[in-house]
Amino acid sequence: MAIVREQFQQPNKPPQPSGKKQQGKKKKSRRNQSQTENDADLLQATANAEETGNQEEGIRPQRLADYIGQKELKGVLEIAIQAAKARNEAMDHLLLYGPPGLGKTTMSLILATEMEVDCKITAAPALERPRDIVGILVNLKPGDILFIDEIHRLSRMTEELLYPAMEDYRLDITIGKGQTARTRSIPLPKFTLVGATTKVGSLTSPLRDRFGLIQRLRFYEPDELSLIVQRTAELLQVPMNVDGAEEIARRSRGTPRIANRLLKRVRDYAQVKGLAPINQEIAAEAMEVFNVDPKGLDWTDRLVLSVMIEQFNGGPVGLEAVASATGEDAQTIEEVYEPYLLQIGYLHRTPRGRVATEAARKHLGL
Ligand code: ADE
Repeated sequence: MAIVREQFQQPNKPPQPSGKKQQGKKKKSRRNQSQTENDADLLQATANAEETGNQEEGIRPQRLADYIGQKELKGVLEIAIQAAKARNEAMDHLLLYGPPGLGKTTMSLILATEMEVDCKITAAPALERPRDIVGILVNLKPGDILFIDEIHRLSRMTEELLYPAMEDYRLDITIGKGQTARTRSIPLPKFTLVGATTKVGSLTSPLRDRFGLIQRLRFYEPDELSLIVQRTAELLQVPMNVDGAEEIARRSRGTPRIANRLLKRVRDYAQVKGLAPINQEIAAEAMEVFNVDPKGLDWTDRLVLSVMIEQFNGGPVGLEAVASATGEDAQTIEEVYEPYLLQIGYLHRTPRGRVATEAARKHLGL
């Protein structure tokens, strides 16, 4: 299987604060100058340059059988693959949604391997002009997979080109302008579009309706993450005990990308200190150095929760109030920090605002 990556700029960066919001970010670095940027990014589920590049290929599972977790999704895809292969057809279009770092790209690459076709990887921000998507579509071979990350960010014109391409494997292009404009229909090979998004609610319904399969990826359980860390440690030849892997798993926010990133930092720590194999104590020690607490919370998570508890009596409190009291951007709190805090039950969203739970108080000792 060949993987072709279109060039695109860091598709998975967390929402960048703009204008007034930028000030919040600056305030944060002033408040906590000892915390390095690297520390702050360690627990971001969004991919860094290394992870979107080719360096990660060695540790990505290649086959469905090697993929740990997401049992229901795997079950659905196994059937879809077998059926499409038996009919000698392209698989139906697939929409994968869920928080970043849970394996949407990996799953798309696995599908290509299982279907024995090529996978073309791109992201909506790289498809700004209609000619970008046209160039990709006309070069697909029968059965190929086209993976579009951040599909909720497609431009209107690109999205409209995709409708007949997905439905009838046809490209309708307009040549010329004004009264002399003509439309031409170009047949396309039968292909599979795999769309990935963290915001399924932001997709237009005509686009969403054209996917035959719509599947959610969920956060991973600690035992699944521990198996992923053990697998990666073996591939990277990092000597590690099971309890070391479990400690990393507990602090990985339910996210394999974070687990593998923490493993690499723990590996560095153990190597520099001359400690092997990595056990629970060493892993915990290393992660304390990187400011990752036993629940995988970083400095900003703890700040958000402690402000809610100490300044707003635990809530309910509005997102904007939390943002201004912490100096953090509201969108970043909502999209980057809250999903995991909600998942572990440290935060509730109510119609009257956010509430920090008893479990959060206990964890912070407040
Ligand atoms: N590496 C990252 N995610 C993985 C997964 N779900 N299974 C196995 N290895 C992984």
